[in-house]
Amino acid sequence: MRIVGTGSAAPKNVITNHQLAQIMDTSDEWIRSRTGIEERHVARGETCLSLALDAAKAALKASGVPKERIGVVICATVSNEKRCPSLASCLQRDLGLSADILAFDLNAACSGFIYALICASHLISPDCYALIVGSEVLSRITDMNDRNTSVLFGDGAGAAIIAPQDMTQTVPFSWVTQSFGNDEVLYIDEHIHMNGASVFKFAVEKLVSNVRTVLERAQVALEDIDLLICHQANQRIIASAARQLGLPMERFFMNLARYGNTSAASVPIALDEAVRNGHVKRGANVIIAGFGGGLTVGAVYLQWA
Ligand code: COA
Repeated sequence: MRIVGTGSAAPKNVITNHQLAQIMDTSDEWIRSRTGIEERHVARGETCLSLALDAAKAALKASGVPKERIGVVICATVSNEKRCPSLASCLQRDLGLSADILAFDLNAACSGFIYALICASHLISPDCYALIVGSEVLSRITDMNDRNTSVLFGDGAGAAIIAPQDMTQTVPFSWVTQSFGNDEVLYIDEHIHMNGASVFKFAVEKLVSNVRTVLERAQVALEDIDLLICHQANQRIIASAARQLGLPMERFFMNLARYGNTSAASVPIALDEAVRNGHVKRGANVIIAGFGGGLTVGAVYLQWA
């Protein structure tokens, strides 16, 4: 499979740590030093659908793929305003895609976009490309009275168009996923609940082991990886994983400071920025990795075609 176009969108409204410190018992220093987050986009009227639509339109435009080619739409989200119809179904309608389509949402929390990417890789064919989206309005399900969680999250969406590889060449690709049925460490009912220290430990351990697994499955050496795009939850989680892997932080694309943790949207927003800023070049060895509620984890290795 190849990623042939990316796009992203974020609400216009930005809230800084300093602004949060005016409405709750926290400080810029605390948030920045514990997480690396400086500000986040927070929806004021935007919805999961409107953000997903903007990101999807941008990805379609960047790919140059005609919308008639899209046969699969997968949306990863935990915060869609409606349970039914699915976000994917509404995207099919609002993008004017054919109704002869497989369109569905999936819930793997912050690993959602990686799960969607892996699903798409199994469903595409030369006549059937996939649109995959991660879109979240987490501000809708964040308890602003809980400073443990409310400072961490933000809103946004990212999208990618997935095409089959050119039959004349083999594009290396490997993946791993895990799911641990845990409803205590990080879960959502009406609001997001989290045991921060346990999530931290889990995330570092799984980032490291999953990077190693996809490398082993693809028979690629760690030194040959040009860029790692990880779920943007916490600077210290990524720095700890980098240390354990023996990789410099420069190999990790980071945009957490400006977005906070946008759950399923975080990886595709980072991917889109990395592509648009020229960090991902043809032939580059890229690892995309995520972890989150569920508990879920996933990683993909691919060579950028
Ligand atoms: N502002 C100020 N103080 C806060 C705070 C905030 N927003 N949130 C919590 N605190 C307080 C706590 O009440 C606690 O106070 P106490 O010691 O008096 O009880 C103290 O800070 C905890 O501090 P510390 O032990 O230094 O926190 P930490 O280093 O464990 O960092 C997290 C906390 C949440 C930043 C960290 O555990 C983390 O990032 N975990 C991963 C979370 C994550 O990424 N989740 C999403 C995964 S998809």
